Formats: sequence, C-alpha cells, structure tokens
Amino acid sequence: GQVALVGAATDTAAAPPVATTPPVSVVYGSQTGNAKRLAEKLARQLDAGGIPARLWRADTYPTRELKDERQLYLVISTQGDGDPPDDARALVEFIAGKRAPKLPQLRFAVLGLGDSSYPQFCSIGRQLDARLAELGATRLFERGDADLDIDSVATPWLDRALASARESQPVQAPRATVTALRPLAPAFDRATPFAAEVLANQPLTARGSTRQHSDRDVRHVELSLEGSGLHYEPGDALGVWPRNPPALVEAVLTTLALDGDAPVSHNGAERPLRQWLLDKRELTRLTRPFVGAHAALAGSAPLDRLLQPDNATDLTALLGRQQLIDLLRAYPGRWTADALVAALRPLTPRLYSIASSQKAVGEEAHLTVAHIEYAVGGETRWGAASHFLASRGDDDRVPVFIEHNERFRLPADPARDVIMIGPGTGVAPFRGFVQERSETRSMTAGASGRNWLLFGNPHFRTDFLYQAEWQQALKDGQLHRLDLAFSRDQAEKIYVQDRLREHGRELYAWLDNGAHLYVCGDATRMAKDVHAALIDVIAEHGGKSREDAETRLNDIQQQGRYARDVY
Ligand code: 2AM
Repeated sequence: GQVALVGAATDTAAAPPVATTPPVSVVYGSQTGNAKRLAEKLARQLDAGGIPARLWRADTYPTRELKDERQLYLVISTQGDGDPPDDARALVEFIAGKRAPKLPQLRFAVLGLGDSSYPQFCSIGRQLDARLAELGATRLFERGDADLDIDSVATPWLDRALASARESQPVQAPRATVTALRPLAPAFDRATPFAAEVLANQPLTARGSTRQHSDRDVRHVELSLEGSGLHYEPGDALGVWPRNPPALVEAVLTTLALDGDAPVSHNGAERPLRQWLLDKRELTRLTRPFVGAHAALAGSAPLDRLLQPDNATDLTALLGRQQLIDLLRAYPGRWTADALVAALRPLTPRLYSIASSQKAVGEEAHLTVAHIEYAVGGETRWGAASHFLASRGDDDRVPVFIEHNERFRLPADPARDVIMIGPGTGVAPFRGFVQERSETRSMTAGASGRNWLLFGNPHFRTDFLYQAEWQQALKDGQLHRLDLAFSRDQAEKIYVQDRLREHGRELYAWLDNGAHLYVCGDATRMAKDVHAALIDVIAEHGGKSREDAETRLNDIQQQGRYARDVY
C-alpha cells in the first residue's frame, strides 16, 4: 500500500526557499482505519495551516530517520489483548528495543486508541509514550487514551497537536499545488453517509427445522450504491451507521420513567430524548465509566462491589453481555434526560468487510453479516448494527460510507497465487477477492494466479456460507483449492489451522512461489492460532528453527504478502 504523503515537504522541487525547518511527522498504526483517519485529519490540518507535515503509515516510516526527527505525532491503536496493529509491529518493536537511539532533540505527543472493556486498554500508546520519554524525548502534552467513542478524546487531542505545531513552527503560506494533487473528497463519507437501498437480505445459515438448525443467523445483505459515486476495492470495508431498535428505546424510557418527547440539548444540538436514544447514543454496549456513574446514582452496594479492582472479571463479564436496559433493571437509579444523554457514549458506525467486487456487481456492495442475538434474563438482546441490517427489508435504507483498507489488497500482479484463510464471516472479503480475480482473469492474458480458500464453521449442513458459489467457482476454475474445517461435525474440533498443518507441504510450496497470504475473522483466538500454525509449517517444511521460521514469516509480512483483517 502506498501512503498518501500530505504536505509541502514531499514536493521538494516546488518548496519555497523558507522551508528550512524540518517537517513535522504524523505517524499512524491502524487496524480498522480509525487511527489512520485521525492522522490524516491532523496532516491535512497542518498542511492547511502552512505547517510542513509528512504522513506515514507506521510500516513505511524510515526508522533510521527517527534520531533526526524534531516533532512527532503518533496515533496508534491497541488490539484486544494489548497487541499493536499489524502495520505498526516493526515500529513498536524498534522503539521498544535495545537499538532505539537516544532522542534528546525530539518533541512528541501520542494519541492511543482502544477499547476500555479490555484490561490492556490503550497499552501500546502508553508503552510508546513512556518509552519515547525514556529515550530522552520531550512530551509536548499529555497522551490521549481514546475509548470507542473516539472523538471525545481525539478531537481535543488533535486541537492541541495543531496548536503545539503552530507554536513551534514558523508558519509558511499554504500551497495550492499540494492541494491540487490530492484526490477529490468523495461526496459521501463517515460524517455524511449515503442512504443505501437494501436490494437483498437472505439467510446464509440454515435455521428452521430442528434437525437442521444453525446456532448462528448469518445474512447475505446486498446494498445499492447507485448514484452515490462511492467506489471500493476488494478488501475495503463498508461503514454502517446503525439505529437502535425502537422497542429497546421505549423500554429504556419506561424503565427510567422519562418522557421521550422531552427536548435535550447536548454539545450544541437539540432533539427529543427519543431521537437521541434511537440514533445518537449507544444502548447495546456498556462501558466501565457509565457503570461507575450509574453506581453513584443508584447507590447500590452490590454494584459498587462489582466495580472494585478485585472483581474485574465479573465486571468484564457484565460489560460483555449486559446492555443498558439490563443494568437499569437490575440496579434501579434515577437519571435525568440531560444527564443520560451526556453520560451515554455517542453511537459509532460499525465496519463490515465488503463481500463483493465492483467489477462483478457494479454499483452494489454485498455484506456477510452475523446477526448478534442472545438472551439476557429471558429477553432477546441484539448487536446494534447486525440487528439493524438483519431487520431491513426491501426499500429500507441504510446509512453507509466506504472505509478504505490499503493493507488488505490483492497482489498487483494477477499471476501471483493467493491463500485466503477466512473462517466464519471472515470469508466475506474473499468472496470479493475471487469475484475480482475472475473478472481480471477473463480480461487479462497471463492473469493465472491460483486461489486457495480455507473456510471453517461449526457444521457442514447448516453453516457452509456461500456453498453453492464456491462449488461453482471450483468448477469454473476460478477457485483452485478449497479446504474446509467444520469444527463440530466430529468428536474432536477441527479448525482451519489444522488444515494448514495437514497441507503444510503444499502451503509451503505456494509461499515459496511468492503466494500472498490473507487472514480475516476472529482476532483474539483464530488469528493467533493461525499465525502459530504458519510458523510451524514454515519451520517443518522449510527445515528451519522456530526462530528462523518466525523471521521468515515477518519477512513475508514486511514484503506485504501477509495481511490480516481481524476483529
Ligand atoms: P467452534 O465454535 O466450534 O469452536 C467460525 O466461528 C469457526 O471458527 C467455528 O467453526 C469455530 O469453532 C471456529 N473456531 C473457534 N475457535 C477457533 C480458533 N481458535 N481457531 C480457529 N477457528 C476457531
């Protein structure tokens, strides 16, 4: 992936003579695109303010230049259990490691992104912040740790970053030439989503008869992008702005004895309470700070106990399962409408890997949606976006935008082989990949790269997502290998990584031949186990020690041949 470089410094030929101050660097490490979006915003604002800035994705940052860097803004997320995003692995290791240079000339600030329901909340941002200071660099201002409601921390952080950059840089005139090189902003984006019409909403898992009943409700949803001007590449994600179920909103209002029509002003916007709860506030995910605020209001001893540090696991379990309504019912407490709107997190869009190629489907985007549905105290609870999508019918509209993901791209050379590992809904982007490569193959001579898909799910009979399409693709020569891991069709579990080990010799041969590897799906367990299996295969079939096999896999990743889209 090529990183867009923003700012005068990248265009030295046309640089004005005053450009003697070294440019400011903005570096991001991003898994789902949020850190990238914020870093881009900062770089754009610096640029517009006449401050020369360079924007780097962490894996393109030339670490040997770090010792000469004067001003650095680092925006980086932390994955579930305290891991860096894939694109920042090497940079994090470099800065943490023994070979990191002393940095007495550097001034810096860090914005961490994360999810406070994990104990390792923002730990990568924290580590880097501490380590840069340890290396002698000067902190410009305090680190920000942004939770899922990113902007409440990120926006003030960006403002401070802009202000400190202004203070320390002689301002140059903004240059029109740079602006002209930037692509035109799309008409629809995260802040201004496109209202996409639902063209299809079909079950992919068998549910109905007791003999054939999947545990999961997975949907194939087709949305129209007609007239939006939106474009995507296979590997990109679709952002979906959900809306909470009206019945859930009414239940919250009733439980709190609040009037849904009461006007509530917050951050300069006024709307009825009901409207805030329907499409502006998170009702389906609780956070630690909200539970804390509720405990204070409810004056409940059991809830207070749950918030003690030694009950962290119980609290994590509660945060993982219970929703606002469950908390309000279990621990009654009085909220005013204003306080409730202020305390709840702003609703955020959910990202879905797009399951189609525009070469094949034109102005449509297809999604593979796991409908999240579970019981709490005899009532059904839903995931906000998956339920919103699953309950949309023909002619309903869904507010969407495209979230580009340059790190998850098919090889530029269509003659390269690809190995796609996508259990569960992780299979989504690979449907797009196979569609794209089929279209390319029919148009380009020499587009001979082979496609190998590894898919897994509980049962063959009920959970074989897109079964008919894969079988057709095999027949048509568009899919060259399909290996399946139905985990619960036999006594012992079989997972995709077992298939990787089983077919290790071939896997190694494909890799040796330059194949690109892709993994999509569950981050916490699957992606780690698959990673370990890949190392085993390289060690065994490449005749290498574990350490050398790890190095080899890292090299493959550095070459852009091992990409992960995990969540
Ligand atoms: P299970 O639920 O039967 O354990 C998609 O969710 C598939 O991934 C399911 O078949 C699930 O199996 C399987 N799965 C669960 N844990 C996994 C892991 N650690 N690695 C790979 N696949 C896993």
